[in-house]
Amino acid sequence: MKKVLIAYFSHEGEAYVGGKIVKLKIGNTRVAAQMIHGLTGGDVFRIETEKPYPDEHMENVELAKSEQYAKARPVLKADALKMDDYDTVILGYPKLVGRYADDRLQFFGKL
Ligand SMILES: Cc1cc2nc3c(=O)[nH]c(=O)nc-3n(C[C@H](O)[C@H](O)[C@H](O)COP(=O)(O)O)c2cc1C
Repeated sequence: MKKVLIAYFSHEGEAYVGGKIVKLKIGNTRVAAQMIHGLTGGDVFRIETEKPYPDEHMENVELAKSEQYAKARPVLKADALKMDDYDTVILGYPKLVGRYADDRLQFFGKL
């Protein structure tokens, strides 16, 4: 049977939703990852940065913007994720500073 990995990055705390800033107890992408897991089964892996992003939305956006200008990339927590064990990888992440997050998360480098 094919083995599925659902790897996601998500952020709890303040987020801009429907025109206003709200406090999320569970990030949107985490909810989506759980829903996909209900359909596909397999393993779920949360991608985390070594230094967590702040809870406050604007602080978060400003920090991420300065990282963007500096072409800095967040360091990810090293985990013993063995990609070779999987046939299918589903990657989930929000838009960060108006961009897709795959380059920031350096995740594909692990493949
Ligand atoms: C580093 C970082 C940068 C973000 N930048 C923006 C942004 O520029 N504009 C925005 O509307 N939301 C921004 N967000 C919020 C995310 O798009 C998303 O709504 C939020 O992280 C909540 O849910 P999710 O991460 O599970 O999708 C940012 C989040 C993070 C962690």
